[in-house]
Amino acid sequence: MSTTKLNPEEVNIAVFGLGFVGLPLALSYALKGCNVIGVDIDRNLVDQLNRGITHHLEKYRETPIQDVLSQQLSNGRFRAASDAKEALARCTYFIMTVGIPVINRNHDMSHVESCARTIAGGLKKGDLVLVRSTVVPGMTRDFVKPILEETGLKAGEDFFLAYSSERIAEGKAFDEFENMPALIAGLNEESRDTACRLMNIVTKELHPASSLEVVETAKVMENISRDVNIAMVNEFARFCESLSIDIFELIKLANTHKRVKLLTPGPGVGGYCIPNALHYLTPKADELGVPLKLLRTARKINEDVPAFVVSLVTRNLPVPAREAKIAVLGMAMKDYSSDDRLSPALDVISHLKTSGITVAAFDPAVPSEYEFKVNSLEEAIKDAHGIVILAKQNGIGYTNFRLFDRLMSKAGALFIVDTKNLYNRAEVEQHGFILEAI
Ligand SMILES: NC(=O)c1ccc[n+]([C@@H]2O[C@H](COP(=O)([O-])OP(=O)(O)OC[C@H]3O[C@@H](n4cnc5c(N)ncnc54)[C@H](O)[C@@H]3O)[C@@H](O)[C@H]2O)c1
Repeated sequence: MSTTKLNPEEVNIAVFGLGFVGLPLALSYALKGCNVIGVDIDRNLVDQLNRGITHHLEKYRETPIQDVLSQQLSNGRFRAASDAKEALARCTYFIMTVGIPVINRNHDMSHVESCARTIAGGLKKGDLVLVRSTVVPGMTRDFVKPILEETGLKAGEDFFLAYSSERIAEGKAFDEFENMPALIAGLNEESRDTACRLMNIVTKELHPASSLEVVETAKVMENISRDVNIAMVNEFARFCESLSIDIFELIKLANTHKRVKLLTPGPGVGGYCIPNALHYLTPKADELGVPLKLLRTARKINEDVPAFVVSLVTRNLPVPAREAKIAVLGMAMKDYSSDDRLSPALDVISHLKTSGITVAAFDPAVPSEYEFKVNSLEEAIKDAHGIVILAKQNGIGYTNFRLFDRLMSKAGALFIVDTKNLYNRAEVEQHGFILEAI
């Protein structure tokens, strides 16, 4: 593998997709001195970013992403664009970070296709296309490459093509771009080496692999392994509940074993990565005749958790469902995140509403608009019969029992369904609340 280092100031990069991955990735390169143009089809997003506005909650060391964005805009190392023309003409390195949504269990390649076509529209000899999206195994070679080669240029000879999976967790993006080891493979050795040089500007530890497919598949399997582990602890939680023992105490104790690493149960599994992963694998598995029984069962267990959370609500309602109001606190797909994509909170809310229950949900970090979303804790709990905790966030007074007492319904015993291990049972009961913990 070639170890020649690139001079960041001479590196012109276009990052396609400025979402949870693309924006902090683009800024990470800008912070190292590269010239970066971020390209996104969302004009409103591009406009906001160019004005220094983002809802992301990332920090580069101690500096909030909003300040990093403003600094990099003012020193000219980063700018966002909805038209790719200039990026394609000026840049040599193209990084793709657009997503593959799953709709009704089917993956949708339209973003990848349109992004590849945009890049093909300006591809030049010597360019590198580095795919960093999480993909359906085989996609870089079988789907992206043919689109890029419609230009008449040959991958691996006229331009370079590589894949490196993105492993960051939202909230830790800047740190993990640098310090999380990354896997990388190229269509050929030159493609891989070119991509390694680009990646090395930001990422300290690279693990080269023998094929694009092994890295693509490893990423999907990494995500599915978390799905399976979470499904396992969600099952353990049901057992512990029936046995009247505390699953969180059990996990802490079990994890003192040096080779055991139980994850934590919760209201389900959300976000773009884990719930989608199985659906990236199943089409190929079906084609190859591999049943994936455990993986499908795990997904189903996690998909069923929101309905279980709702059963904890309905069994405590002091009034018929149609007269009941529930306050949902925390809507993000995980704690301290602004991302509510595929959030189990949205599933819980949907089940509550289907039962006829009125829902008022509060999450100060989530920017998405919903008719059931309110802007304060007070609005959420006013006349509510119970509270459901679905994500931890700064700025929510989870233990403001005096406020709860004052504003919540007086129709019967009040209750809290805690999916986040936030409460001490004795304290909750001392305030006269019923506690349902998972
Ligand atoms: N979010 C994470 O924590 C995370 C972690 C690891 C890997 N990933 C993977 O990274 C990829 C991106 O995830 P994300 O969370 O950043 O998604 P995102 O939805 O936040 O961002 C994707 C962006 O791509 C833009 N886009 C769509 N089509 C485009 C096109 N043709 N040209 C330019 N821009 C286009 C969208 O407008 C959007 O802003 C996905 O494959 C995801 O699975 C995400």
